[in-house]
Amino acid sequence: MTAPSKASEPVRDGKLITITDGLPDPRLAPMAELARAYARALRTVSRASAGYSDAAGDVSLREVIASFVNQARGLATNTDEVMLTRGSQGALALYALTMLKPGDIVAVEVPGYAPAWRAFEFAGAKILPIPVDQKGLRVDVLAKAARRLGGKLKAVYVTPHHQYPTTVAMAPDRRMQVLQLAEAFDLTIIEDDYDYEYHFDGEPLLPLQASGGARRVVYIASLSKLLAPTVRVGYLVAPAAHVQKLKQTRALLERQGDVTLERALAELFEDGTIQRHARRARREYQTRRDGLLHRLRTTPVLHESFDYTVPAGGLALWLTLRHGNIDNVAAKARAAQLAIAPGSSYVLQGRLDAIRLGFAAHTPHELNRICDTLARCLQR
Ligand SMILES: Cc1ncc(COP(=O)(O)O)c(C=O)c1O
Repeated sequence: MTAPSKASEPVRDGKLITITDGLPDPRLAPMAELARAYARALRTVSRASAGYSDAAGDVSLREVIASFVNQARGLATNTDEVMLTRGSQGALALYALTMLKPGDIVAVEVPGYAPAWRAFEFAGAKILPIPVDQKGLRVDVLAKAARRLGGKLKAVYVTPHHQYPTTVAMAPDRRMQVLQLAEAFDLTIIEDDYDYEYHFDGEPLLPLQASGGARRVVYIASLSKLLAPTVRVGYLVAPAAHVQKLKQTRALLERQGDVTLERALAELFEDGTIQRHARRARREYQTRRDGLLHRLRTTPVLHESFDYTVPAGGLALWLTLRHGNIDNVAAKARAAQLAIAPGSSYVLQGRLDAIRLGFAAHTPHELNRICDTLARCLQR
């Protein structure tokens, strides 16, 4: 098995700057508050419980998450349908190991998120690439595949809010079509909603699970973008019968999650710390995005080199190179202490002359340095 390949890793390593694929800035996260809440939870949880608890996760955080997604994202769920996991990746792997069997086929967006593909393959499933255009997943191509493959096609994995990596929002008609297709061909939609809170322009589209897809959609989200990926807590919202099955797998693998951390996070949701942080972070990231857009417009070589559309939200821009080879740009950048993940990391094979430029983890000063270096590397 290949280890899950991640398009980007931590941000700073001496002089080297790594452009992330859209990580948040951990320097802004309320870690001191989390540390204090963790210390409190450590005392109460370890004194109050016999040690082992529900494999679906701490009930207070599941309750908080259920009401959070109901209020903020239009879901209509309850505690029995919420399962806590170790990040989205934990949710994807649990789903794959529990619900897929060797020979099953899972349709995936390409370009797309390779760590999810690896989880499906690890369970013995095959992945079927479906292209993405300006309206998101090509549901017409998926429909043809569903007709051709019959019952072997079990699921489709999508990132409809801000498609990974292109940042495109799945258009309303495509959303209706994919829900109808799932109903017609008995497919599960695995909806990875990894950065819902970061929406800057207009109202965000509701998740597929909130748009009539409650029965068909396994909704996966995470605190990695809201706080930091080091806080390994994600969640999955699915019918209660699915959660019961997933709990059995989890009990085998790791029995339960980090109940102390889960209890501490519940406290920070309940007293509003996380929501306040989300509001502050959203403002800061919008400022960083706008600063970056300004540089892209006003630096001639950057302006001439890239095509892009400004996404309404998310923590990254998708820049496609008009001319030339992104691997050469990446090699020059590396020599100048700038690490970029070229577009090829998001496809099954071949080269994709694009960069996913995550802006949130970098200060305006770092973003300027990134733009200066990129500009030098693109100079003929
Ligand atoms: C498409 C996508 N899904 C999920 C995640 C979050 O992963 P995790 O919650 O395991 O940290 C990321 C983070 O980079 C992502 O880009």
